[in-house]
Amino acid sequence: MREQLLAAEKVKAIDWRGGVLYLLDQRLLPLEERWLAYESAEAVAEAIRSMVVRGAPAIGISAAYGVALGVRARLAAGGDWQAALEEDFQRLAESRPTAVNLFWALNCMRERLGRLKPGEDPLLALEAEAVAIHLSDREANLTMAQLGVDLIRKHQGNPQALLTHCNTGALATGGFGTALGVIRAAYLDGLVERVYADETRPWLQGSRLTAWELINEGIPVSLNADSAAAHLMKTKGITWVIVGADRITANGDVANKIGTYQLAVNAMHHGVRFMVVAPSSTIDMNLESGDDIPIEERAGSELLELGGQRVAAEVEAVNPVFDVTPADLIDYIVTEKGVVERPDAAKMAQLMCRKRLH
Ligand code: MRU
Repeated sequence: MREQLLAAEKVKAIDWRGGVLYLLDQRLLPLEERWLAYESAEAVAEAIRSMVVRGAPAIGISAAYGVALGVRARLAAGGDWQAALEEDFQRLAESRPTAVNLFWALNCMRERLGRLKPGEDPLLALEAEAVAIHLSDREANLTMAQLGVDLIRKHQGNPQALLTHCNTGALATGGFGTALGVIRAAYLDGLVERVYADETRPWLQGSRLTAWELINEGIPVSLNADSAAAHLMKTKGITWVIVGADRITANGDVANKIGTYQLAVNAMHHGVRFMVVAPSSTIDMNLESGDDIPIEERAGSELLELGGQRVAAEVEAVNPVFDVTPADLIDYIVTEKGVVERPDAAKMAQLMCRKRLH
């Protein structure tokens, strides 16, 4: 499967070349493919905030490269560069609040700084750390794709209808994707009849990004309004809902794009299996339950306007962009360390003690 996925790879969103970070501007897709170049930590923080790059793992990877860019600038400025670098850590940490991969990646970079040996080149070391974070996310996705496909096949070996939410693909990660990585692999394994992609209001990650990624690879996909999901579960024989995550807490609760929670409730009602696919960098064992997860609220204009044109009445909008699915609505959490069935605190703790499977 690994070789097949590598051969089928078409989309990428993050490129580190010659000490410059290039990001595919996801605000413009699918109408325009424009790469933007980043040469400072401050600019990377702004790219994350404004969603040039989005998706939990992709945010973490970009922030890591942001730190490397910060190191270069602070070293060049001279003086106490490590103290000055704190400002970059701070800016990057404030860019978005919910996806814990951001804070995980910043921690990895900070730890690497702490392990610098006398005489070691800080810039080379921190650049290498960012590249390692990027590559290890790609590897994690390849491992999870295989684990997810094994689960699907175990329950039913024929082509099936799958439903997904938001964008969890190559655009949202270091490559291949989490939930969309499993879906890609399932397609290569002959297990996909059709993918139903929720449009994912209000930012439209589903219609703009997921549909684009799947069409690029010839995977049969239909776009649906988020509110059609329950009806589709009832009428289209959907066997699995497969989603990613932005933060998973110690008890197995899962924060993901707004609308995921209602999908899980509906899946349980219809006997549809619910799979969450996320690398262990998405797991936050410091938070006991989903109640503790900071949920990002974005501007009301995302709801009140379409293409910059006001479409709503003169009303106040509430725009939480993530929600929390309680662990007891989840059948499987798939990570690169293994699979947790019917997650709870004990199983999550056990999982985190395991080594990666690759
Ligand atoms: O607001 P976004 O687009 O960053 O939200 C992305 C999601 O919610 C994804 O489902 C999640 O990050 C998993 S991506 C592999």
